[in-house]
Amino acid sequence: MIQEAVKSLRSGMPVLIFDSDDREGETDMVYASQFIRPESIRSMRKDGGGLICTTIKMEDALLTRLPYIEDLYKTLDIPNITNADDLKYDKNSTFSITVNSRETFTGIPDIDRAKTVKDISFYIDNLRRKKMDYNDFGRIFRSPGHIHLLIASDGYFKKRRGHTELSTYLVEISGLIPSATIVEMLSDTGRSMTMEEAMAYARNHNYTFITGDEIISHWSGSN
Ligand code: 5RP
Ligand code: ZN
Ligand code: CA
Ligand code: ZN
Repeated sequence: MIQEAVKSLRSGMPVLIFDSDDREGETDMVYASQFIRPESIRSMRKDGGGLICTTIKMEDALLTRLPYIEDLYKTLDIPNITNADDLKYDKNSTFSITVNSRETFTGIPDIDRAKTVKDISFYIDNLRRKKMDYNDFGRIFRSPGHIHLLIASDGYFKKRRGHTELSTYLVEISGLIPSATIVEMLSDTGRSMTMEEAMAYARNHNYTFITGDEIISHWSGSN
């Protein structure tokens, strides 16, 4: 299944990742950020329906001076706005700031969000090649914007086993720029899709469906 997922991501197709029963119990639609097109954003919002987010590895976030948004919120004068035990399914969220490419207008249409995601992957690639640094970030993006950045924990599954880590790891082992663009699959029942609903969706669209366990087993085997 890992090889199928890698093949899909490399060809610009999405992969569906179910985290686990003892966590969110959700399935995210995942693309390699570098291959995002306006059509991908359209299927993420119409078939996924959750929040469209783009991941960045911790090492790249640190070089860019990107914070966890929780740390910024702690500085607000609103008691209890963020507490250590707030999440019901994990220790901490991976949310960082939101951004728009400066070459967008409002930032929300499919073409705008695709442009922002493309620019994020372009920036990460250049950062890793040492052709850009944090000074370039504000030159390319403005904040707030319409793409949520998520920071994947260092060492991947040592600290956290969320979609942020699962998707970024999968894109990285595919040999691509290590950034994923992800969205939760919601159901017309008003809830998140069950694993069965997400598997049926994957079958109907010929998309690869993979579980967090399979991805983490692959990682354990190579660590
Ligand atoms: C952002 C989220 C999603 O659950 C997304 O899957 C990333 O979070 P996590 O790494 O906790 O699974 O909350 O929309
Ligand atoms: Zn979530
Ligand atoms: Ca829908
Ligand atoms: Zn998730």
